[in-house]
Amino acid sequence: MKHKYLDKIKSLEGPPKKVNIFSDKEIKMIQELYNDLPERTFNKKQKVRKKAWEQNYNTELDKIYFSKLKEILGDFKMDNLKSEKGDDLYGLFHESFSPLPIHVDSGFDEEDIIYKQVVTPLAPVGDTIFFKKRWYGRSTTFTIDPEELKFKPKADQNDRSNKHLGDKEFNEEIHTKYLTHIDINNLKGMEVEFIYEWKVGETLIVDRSHIHCASSRINHKKLGLTTFTKK
Ligand SMILES: [Fe+2]
Repeated sequence: MKHKYLDKIKSLEGPPKKVNIFSDKEIKMIQELYNDLPERTFNKKQKVRKKAWEQNYNTELDKIYFSKLKEILGDFKMDNLKSEKGDDLYGLFHESFSPLPIHVDSGFDEEDIIYKQVVTPLAPVGDTIFFKKRWYGRSTTFTIDPEELKFKPKADQNDRSNKHLGDKEFNEEIHTKYLTHIDINNLKGMEVEFIYEWKVGETLIVDRSHIHCASSRINHKKLGLTTFTKK
């Protein structure tokens, strides 16, 4: 698949932006919501515990969250899958124990006008590395493992691809500092656009077409909230 409304998507793109939209109290409310929510998946392979922000656990917080995002993003729609009741989920909480591989969260529907990804760190330590390269196909995990490349995804699962690769060797210093969990040959032709060092109290707004991954600088408490949006 290739996104159909490419010009429109590109016209909405811009550099990553750090904002402070939530007060300490609101961050605390979001952390408490995370504790109250039921567990959704525990992916043993990726060592990530996920919970989804379901509406109506804290309706006051639902309203605050939506309106604060609207202030920053203008009109937008949520694009985080639906709850069992069919309501929009407001985001996904990720508690990581090991860093996520290189991927892109560009969506699963070619008709969608994908927009911004909103990342709110809720516990340190960690970074997200954004590469210059962008991707306008389906959500994809990038790998050079021939076995992994054979994977046939279901409707809501990432594709696998090695089409991110180029010729230029990847910067060794950056690899050693941030990306030791990734084979340096899987980074050929990639250049870093922006390294986001997680800071609780901040929120990062970034285009969904950016290829990215977590850094190897991680502790067992790394917890963040991500919301995907479309127009
Ligand atoms: Fe992601």
